[in-house]
Amino acid sequence: MQRFPAWVVRRSDDGAASTAALETLDAEFLDALGAREDGPALDTVVRVEYSSVNFKDALALTGKPGVVRRSPLVAGIDLTGTVLSTTHPDWCRGDLVTLNGAGLGETLHGGLAGRAHVDGNRLVRVPATMTPRHAAALGTAGFTAMLAVLRIERHGVSPADGPVLVTGASGGLGSLAVALLARAGFEVTASTGRTETQSGFLRDLGATTVIDRGELGEPGRPLQRQRWAAVIDAVGGPTLVNAVAQLRHGGIAAACGNAQSADYAGSVFPFILRGATLAGIDSVQASREERLAAWARLERDVDVAALDGMTSVVPISAAREVAERVLSGGVRGRTVIETGG
Ligand SMILES: NC(=O)c1ccc[n+]([C@@H]2O[C@H](COP(=O)([O-])OP(=O)(O)OC[C@H]3O[C@@H](n4cnc5c(N)ncnc54)[C@H](OP(=O)(O)O)[C@@H]3O)[C@@H](O)[C@H]2O)c1
Repeated sequence: MQRFPAWVVRRSDDGAASTAALETLDAEFLDALGAREDGPALDTVVRVEYSSVNFKDALALTGKPGVVRRSPLVAGIDLTGTVLSTTHPDWCRGDLVTLNGAGLGETLHGGLAGRAHVDGNRLVRVPATMTPRHAAALGTAGFTAMLAVLRIERHGVSPADGPVLVTGASGGLGSLAVALLARAGFEVTASTGRTETQSGFLRDLGATTVIDRGELGEPGRPLQRQRWAAVIDAVGGPTLVNAVAQLRHGGIAAACGNAQSADYAGSVFPFILRGATLAGIDSVQASREERLAAWARLERDVDVAALDGMTSVVPISAAREVAERVLSGGVRGRTVIETGG
């Protein structure tokens, strides 16, 4: 039987602690979850060539709570690879596919492994304009950034309405949001805690202005000077509250993450006095239609040369070391994992 490497998260017997270890598995391990009656049909076997390290993966790989909800579970919320076998009508052996969220690495065995058994309904074809490695470099970060851009556009915001703020801008989601917004013609202000080292990087991605995240990170007044037509926020907490307080009349903030805090201690005044909208972005449970729309737009808009410039590629054995650097704020852009599949 074919064996493959995988990062497996196991909870201690008393449920108090989790640890992740690089193990060697066989398909039987994956089948054990696939047999669950209440889960999706895992009708497609993928040889996983690439995964990535998102914020959630960093939490899982370092044993932090809140992501992995079953034990033992293969970590990894993204995968990209080749269909080995399938009973799903849309897919054939040899198809290049990618998958983000949809329970991977949370309730279903994930992508930090050489193999995965997945739900064909949630798979997306790797765009013709990019390699599987590019699709992995985008991963959940790029998919979510695009969902946020589409949400802002659906709200009716256009480049003529004013600048768009991106918080957590040097991170995976943030840096891709900067690039995608700039590509769509928006004037982008990037907020980062690393102005000294990352301003050039962010300007190269298309930001016109870079601000220190300290400007937004402490609790402020409920209504502030109207600055942004829209916001894509990766950090939550006081940063998101201040960003909403600075929205122009009728503006929208797309709440994507909680790198600063999961709290939202805000006033209703921006909503009832300025018609502001706070929109939640959930990539995990995105429908098939949303997945196809976002990836079609990624296919159209992503500059693969720029993507290469913000991507590091490391072997699967290095995933935990990357995870530790993500949590200490030492990673910029995206890290692709070669999974050995
Ligand atoms: N809603 C969804 O479906 C979805 C999908 C993907 C990700 N997310 C969430 O989005 C967030 C970002 O994910 P990611 O994968 O892009 O992570 P990441 O690469 O680690 O980026 C996070 C960025 O947030 C900023 N940051 C970190 N700690 C901060 C703090 N204490 N205060 C203010 N800013 C801080 C840093 O940017 P600077 O160094 O530039 O300041 C960091 O690079 C995470 O919370 C993740 O769970 C949600």
